[in-house]
Amino acid sequence: MTNSKKLKNKQVLITGATRGIGRAIAIEAAKRGAHIIALGRTQGALEELDDEISSLGASATLVPMKLEDFSAIDRLGAAIFERFGKLDALIGNAGMLGTLSPVAHLSPKEFDKVMAVNFTANYRLLRSFDLPLKKSENGRIVFISSNAAQSAKPYWGLYAASKAALNAMVKSYAGEIEKTTVKANIFYPQATRTAMRAKAMPGEDPMTLPHPNKIAPFIIDMIAPDYNENGKIFDMRGKELRDI
Ligand SMILES: NC(=O)c1ccc[n+]([C@@H]2O[C@H](COP(=O)([O-])OP(=O)(O)OC[C@H]3O[C@@H](n4cnc5c(N)ncnc54)[C@H](OP(=O)(O)O)[C@@H]3O)[C@@H](O)[C@H]2O)c1
Repeated sequence: MTNSKKLKNKQVLITGATRGIGRAIAIEAAKRGAHIIALGRTQGALEELDDEISSLGASATLVPMKLEDFSAIDRLGAAIFERFGKLDALIGNAGMLGTLSPVAHLSPKEFDKVMAVNFTANYRLLRSFDLPLKKSENGRIVFISSNAAQSAKPYWGLYAASKAALNAMVKSYAGEIEKTTVKANIFYPQATRTAMRAKAMPGEDPMTLPHPNKIAPFIIDMIAPDYNENGKIFDMRGKELRDI
């Protein structure tokens, strides 16, 4: 792990940058000199993030949008390609838990929304940013998934399925880009002190969990130009790297 300005002049797109792990990722990347393209729905939170990034001597482009707006993802890809000619890193972090519920009791509307945000939007991001990432000298992609994809505990079926689908897609994509300079990997956070975790485990004392800023440096290490793994999961729980 390093704080040296290894990401100077790099454009880094982070989804779900308004709070939780995504916000900490944005701050960590800014500390390492990156230009942050910060996506989220909450305008005020994006503006606060922008102020903090400026105070670190870095800069940001704010993208207030919801990820279910797939044509907005297409427009964003085109706009970034036009402005920068490339994208150096994509961090697909945004996600939602949905309701923990027996599979048979899930509402079809919520099923579609969780799959849209956790899975389909990430496909649309890959589709929209494939070319800009290939135009970078060392395009790097990290998707934030979850060990729930494997554990698939009772009542976690929708969230687990959305993350398992994400893993499968990233594994295929990583194989497809093997001969390019782009690398695509998955990161599993451990239980982290965020709003999503509090919703999943309301009885848990959040202060027993690590703050997102303890997790973020490990994710930002994975977008460094000299990070050459591809098609791997970095599991924060055991700090273990394995094939997807
Ligand atoms: N916290 C944990 O213990 C844990 C464990 C394993 C995996 N993860 C994964 O880590 C990632 C980050 O989770 P977190 O705990 O930091 O969650 P969080 O605190 O709930 O933050 C979620 C982020 O996603 C954004 N987002 C949600 N729905 C969106 C939508 N429809 N369009 C655009 N942005 C949207 C939110 O921003 P707005 O509301 O402003 O849009 C927010 O910035 C997720 O992929 C999660 O599955 C977390």
